[in-house]
Amino acid sequence: MKQTPYYLYDTTLLARTLEAIQAEVQGQDNLHVHYAIKANSNPLILRQIAASGLGADCVSGGEIKVALAAGFPASQIAFAGVGKSDEEIQLALDNAIGMMNVESIEELEVIHEIATASQQKARVSFRINPDIAAHTHGHITTGKAENKFGIPKEDMVHVIRKAQQMPMVEFTGLHFHIGSQLLEMDDFEALCLRINELQEELDREGLYAPNINVGGGLGVDYEHPSENPIPDFKAYFSTFKQGLQLRPGQQLHFELGRAVVAQMGSLITRVLYVKQGQLKQFVIVDAGMTDLIRPALYGALHHIDNLSASGRTAQAQYDVVGPICESSDVFARDYTLPQTQRGDILALRSAGAYGAIMASGYNCRPLPQEYTTEEPDALP
Ligand code: LLP
Repeated sequence: MKQTPYYLYDTTLLARTLEAIQAEVQGQDNLHVHYAIKANSNPLILRQIAASGLGADCVSGGEIKVALAAGFPASQIAFAGVGKSDEEIQLALDNAIGMMNVESIEELEVIHEIATASQQKARVSFRINPDIAAHTHGHITTGKAENKFGIPKEDMVHVIRKAQQMPMVEFTGLHFHIGSQLLEMDDFEALCLRINELQEELDREGLYAPNINVGGGLGVDYEHPSENPIPDFKAYFSTFKQGLQLRPGQQLHFELGRAVVAQMGSLITRVLYVKQGQLKQFVIVDAGMTDLIRPALYGALHHIDNLSASGRTAQAQYDVVGPICESSDVFARDYTLPQTQRGDILALRSAGAYGAIMASGYNCRPLPQEYTTEEPDALP
């Protein structure tokens, strides 16, 4: 076994997940799934995802570089982000990436300047804020009017016309993203209705968007990762296939992150101490919020398995905590586990998305290592 804490990625489950996605889109040439690199950019994982035929969704120059290195074709990369630097815009142009999702008129002007200076045509889609309140944690909802993301839908026609007057800009379509960890198809249905309305407005104005990008956001079952290892891609894709009234020739793009990689990853950690507090029992593990920040940042709960407890029948309630000097360094409170002792190995499940990639070196801790199940000595 490897030195804990570390991330373990189940490449067999990833392969099954990618097959489940392909089953919904194959044979439909106008559907394009881009993997949101921000969820997990481990090179081995990226290579497996690229090899399955998905494109990539990038939000920084760094992500564009790792996507290209992993084999995602430049033409299938979408570049989003509310604050792209001049260097990142240049990098995107130099590599002829598929499209840039532009979030303001100010950004459009800068892109046009840079494209003109380097005589490279910029393929530009506009991220429109659809003003939809999705059912998820406040920190990861993005599609409401008050959020910083996107262009107000009232300004859509104006920005398209503006782009059409720019010789070095090609208007390629519309982009949306309403939030993350969405499990209710109602939210995506609401997005479809809004897009249909906006398309009618485009028709009235004599405009045509070659590409419609509906972003990502499909959630996973954090409570029951073993029972539901693969998200309901059928329900997700059919919501859009049925709900959107696409115009002839329109290409439909998706940007899925969490749904692709969350369930294939676990954070493997060792119990350092079981401490009897005045009111509670604490299981103190060697992983902390520096390795997996989602519980501290969003109040997220990752299911915990004690992998050393087979045959133990007694159970107890514990607060499972890390070693960091912050009271928010808690993975779970009053959590029922088999009787747990020093040296036990725990798996924090559903940690393949927004886990390792959000790790920090706070407290001068090393970043967690990442292994796949193809390395036999990584198995706990
Ligand atoms: N497209 C855009 C424009 C996005 O902003 C995001 C995620 C995605 C696609 C992918 O969303 P997904 O399919 O993974 O839901 N760190 C948070 C999640 C932040 C998501 C940010 N944007 C978490 O750990 O829950």
